[in-house]
Amino acid sequence: MTDPLAARTLIANTIRAPDFRRATFAGVARGANPAGWVRVVVRPVELRGGRFLQFAYHDARQVRTHNVAPADAATPLDEVLAVGFSAVHLDTDAGQTDIRLSKKGKVLIGRTAAPAAPSADAAHNRTKDVPLPEGRADHLLEALGGMTPDGRVKPTMRAKFTQVNEFLKHLAHTLDDAGLRGLGRPVEILDCGSGSGHLTLAAHHYLNDILGIPARVTGVDANPHVVQKTTAAAQQLGAADARFACGRIGAFESTADVVLALHACDTATDDAIAQAVRAGARLLLSVPCCHQALNAVVKPDGVAEVLRPVLRHGILQQRTADILTDAFRALALRIAGYRTDVVEFVSPEHTARNLMIRATRGLPPGDPAFVAEYRELCRFWGVVPYIETALGDPFRRLVREESS
Ligand SMILES: C[S@@+](CC[C@H](N)C(=O)[O-])C[C@H]1O[C@@H](n2cnc3c(N)ncnc32)[C@H](O)[C@@H]1O
Repeated sequence: MTDPLAARTLIANTIRAPDFRRATFAGVARGANPAGWVRVVVRPVELRGGRFLQFAYHDARQVRTHNVAPADAATPLDEVLAVGFSAVHLDTDAGQTDIRLSKKGKVLIGRTAAPAAPSADAAHNRTKDVPLPEGRADHLLEALGGMTPDGRVKPTMRAKFTQVNEFLKHLAHTLDDAGLRGLGRPVEILDCGSGSGHLTLAAHHYLNDILGIPARVTGVDANPHVVQKTTAAAQQLGAADARFACGRIGAFESTADVVLALHACDTATDDAIAQAVRAGARLLLSVPCCHQALNAVVKPDGVAEVLRPVLRHGILQQRTADILTDAFRALALRIAGYRTDVVEFVSPEHTARNLMIRATRGLPPGDPAFVAEYRELCRFWGVVPYIETALGDPFRRLVREESS
């Protein structure tokens, strides 16, 4: 435990030090907060004239930045400290420091040393062009219980960490196409089937703290236990604008700009797609999970009889149904007005569920060529895919009305 003055000195010295990376002030504001800041992030920036400190002030709607020379940082720092944020996180090359301000005004400090320098090969593998390289996302990993005592990603968490990084790469890659930079307000992100919250909180951290794009995230999951855990992790991170709600995907109305769904089970992926379309989301990124619904009804009947040699074998039938399900989803999104592609998400060694549907709003809905393809595919297989049910009447009018 220490006193507030010593904490101030520690923060002031840290942000001026050459190895300083980032300081995040967040959590409950217990002091005067006339500007309504929910988070302030300070990081070094190289500008003409040398090294400056950038203060990024996030309020509920937008982010404002202000660059100062390190020698002039005392005044903006004292303004931020006067807000009395309950959680301050300091990140330097040497390690990380967490400062907690309790309700009773007590100051608690915890430190984690940076992991020992990895071998050249390992370092290459870890840092090559990933949004959250190992050693830089420690605070997040700690809150999610994914870090070993010596500061590495837990072996049980490694595949998920890789998937989250790949997901964030796709998010970063599509931000401009979806017009998500410079909205003039925080980007609203909805994570459907958020589970243990790795993706939800990683997206929050990546956009707000690394890319400097203000973002609010909501994770929705039907399992109350995971919602409880992820809510606690968000609090530990001081991420006041990351929230988790318990319920079924689609049960909450949303105006999300971005909808994410990573391994939402079976038709939950369709429900996430439908939620994105209803919200008029600018971007949908979805990695489907198991595909059961069509597998139960795909049959070598009628014109599909020619595929009997394929569907005779259970594993081939399952894979056919998988491909067909995702083809229907991608086509339905095109009909709903989204530029859509289907890409490999991660290499199969990390997960067999390694296909991503990426969709950006921007096509006129109801393109007759796509509608014709959709009807023909339904006719060939003699099925109505669940995505049609999930998208409901507005979609049915686009694909069925002319033919009736
Ligand atoms: C395989 S986990 C994936 C979790 C997380 N997206 C990830 O990749 O780490 C699927 C999650 O989706 C949730 N889920 C499945 N169907 C759902 C539905 N219809 N509505 C809400 N949550 C659902 C489950 O409770 C579970 O937590």
